[in-house]
Amino acid sequence: MRMREEFRHETVLLRESVEGILGDLDGIYVDCTLGGGGHSAALADRLGPSGCLVGIDQDPAAVQAGRLRLAGVRPTVHVVQGNFREIGAVLDQLGIGQVDGILFDLGVSSHQIDLPQRGFSYMNDGPLDMRMNPEQPLTAQEIVNTYPEKELARVIFEYGEERWARRIAKFIVEARRNRSLTTTFELVELIAAAIPAAARRQGPHPAKRTFQAIRIEVNGELSILPAALRKAIDRLKPGGKIGVISFHSLEDRIVKNTFAALLGHCVCPPRAPVCICNPRATLRLPGKPIAPSAAEVETNPRARSAKLRIAEKVG
Ligand SMILES: C[S@@+](CC[C@H](N)C(=O)[O-])C[C@H]1O[C@@H](n2cnc3c(N)ncnc32)[C@H](O)[C@@H]1O
Repeated sequence: MRMREEFRHETVLLRESVEGILGDLDGIYVDCTLGGGGHSAALADRLGPSGCLVGIDQDPAAVQAGRLRLAGVRPTVHVVQGNFREIGAVLDQLGIGQVDGILFDLGVSSHQIDLPQRGFSYMNDGPLDMRMNPEQPLTAQEIVNTYPEKELARVIFEYGEERWARRIAKFIVEARRNRSLTTTFELVELIAAAIPAAARRQGPHPAKRTFQAIRIEVNGELSILPAALRKAIDRLKPGGKIGVISFHSLEDRIVKNTFAALLGHCVCPPRAPVCICNPRATLRLPGKPIAPSAAEVETNPRARSAKLRIAEKVG
């Protein structure tokens, strides 16, 4: 109970995603981003005693919280610490072949962001860390202190869509000539200095985009996603569903394109049980992308940019 209180994360698009991927209540479901266990607990609530739930997270704190939250639920539960890009190996090790449903709720949890010592937040001072898996070697500190200026600018521009990327990279490289950068607030200060005052006064916090970019680079969030989604889809049974919640356009574009490449231009009506128009199609889309309701955004502003895409494996 204590652990559950400590792990703060408000689950996004809970009903829509769980209902979207659920089929056979005695089937096998995989939550690739266990986090605080919000989606997993709702799935476990719905599954019968012969059902099975696999929860994966690369953060040991999420694994610990997830194990506690899912203790004693009706279906069989396996909580595994690992990266979802290894979904095939995780399922092999559990002796599981194909599954009925898979969910990805991408990005970081509020718990990770809120802990200053994890270094994700530009609002709190902490070490330049940003690793979801604290055992991996690459940290934000290494990126900020060792990447060549051009590479830093590319990361900040591509992953943060920051128009001042080149200036921010220049300021970082100049500052690190004198000293190593070690804290989030040192980085925030440099970013603020690099962005002209007029631009700083508009839009979100000036460090938001750069922090997002460095976090994405530290955790390889975009580079691993296409292959991870394909591996997950490989493990779905015909009729099984994959749901992916993304939080920014860069992620969503990857999800959309990965699904599109496997649709084979299926033009079957939404409720058709199998794809009849293209025998090579791997997926069909049962509906349009789903956004959170106004009521959800009001109670959980973090849901504002969420988008859920669901696809179904065709037989
Ligand atoms: C948005 S949170 C999930 C929250 C969860 N759905 C809930 O309702 O409590 C995302 C989680 O996915 C994990 N994660 C992100 N990328 C991952 C990856 N490549 N492999 C495994 N876990 C990952 C993060 O550590 C984080 O705990």
